[in-house]
Amino acid sequence: MKERLQEIRERALEQINSTDSLEKLNEVRVSILGKKGELTEVLKGMKDVEPKDRPMVGQIVNETRQAIEEVLENARKELSEKMREIQMKAEVIDVTLPAKKNNVGHSHPNTLALEEIKKIFVGMGYEVVEGPEVEYDYYNFEALNIPANHPAKDEQDTFYINDKIVLRTQTSSVQVREMEKGKLPLRMISPGRVYRADEVDATHSPCFHQVEGLVIDENITFADLKGTLVEFAKEVFGPETKVKFRPHHFPFTEPSAEMDVSCFKCGGKGCRMCKGEGWIEILGCGMVHPHVLEMSGIDTDKYTGFAFGVGLERIALLKYEIDDMRLLYENDARFLKQF
Ligand code: DAH
Repeated sequence: MKERLQEIRERALEQINSTDSLEKLNEVRVSILGKKGELTEVLKGMKDVEPKDRPMVGQIVNETRQAIEEVLENARKELSEKMREIQMKAEVIDVTLPAKKNNVGHSHPNTLALEEIKKIFVGMGYEVVEGPEVEYDYYNFEALNIPANHPAKDEQDTFYINDKIVLRTQTSSVQVREMEKGKLPLRMISPGRVYRADEVDATHSPCFHQVEGLVIDENITFADLKGTLVEFAKEVFGPETKVKFRPHHFPFTEPSAEMDVSCFKCGGKGCRMCKGEGWIEILGCGMVHPHVLEMSGIDTDKYTGFAFGVGLERIALLKYEIDDMRLLYENDARFLKQF
């Protein structure tokens, strides 16, 4: 029995020393000390040992067990340290490698133009309000003096959800929503997306942006409209900018006008930018039609107002001298970074 134990011990040490992984080490443990392990088998044989020899044999078995456990534990420690070292080496960070570039985006020209427009009007005491893009026909047309069979509706009669709901064709709808609230006086701009059934080309898109403006107070006249929009034009296109108001027609304003600015590129002499005209059209405006005020419950004996509508893309394209609107929607970061 003694020799058997000696033999087990020697073989165990040999096996332990030749293992190179924790899993294999565990296999060795099980094969010796496990329920069906060699040493356990020996213990089961104790019943055949002479009673007088049992204490002695028991002691040797225990010693063997302890010795094997100790070697096993040492081997386990050594192996796990080795594994950890290998892992550390594999995960080492090479601080001399060039850093990964963090790609930072860039504000879109539309955003830049809108920020500027907002700043100008907020500086004049205007509020910025938003309205829904999916809009009732009533707010988009009817309440703006564009009844069902009005020819002005024809051009914009576009994306209907059903016969009462439409993708708004103009941000003028937000005027009505604000007037209806009945809180006067009113000084607001409303930027947002609008939709029309236009084919995509260098100057058109089925989805674009407008900024609507509205002022309603006592004693508001066309002079206030002019003063405000002249100031706006000078802020956006430079202090030398001259403006020109051409009579026009919008159903919701009376009188109505379109405003041109002197070409900021040639100063009015005529160039490619202004197509030789010296002037560039930038917005529509007018005094709010009394019928529009009445429909929204405003007392026309007391209040008057003016309104205007600017195409945001138009301002961005002019300001940054971009000659094709489609570039604004491609969102190529290399393009956007120029502005
Ligand atoms: N909503 C008009 C359009 O889409 C623009 C406009 C013109 C708005 C005159 C106004 C305005 O408020 O007074 O063409």
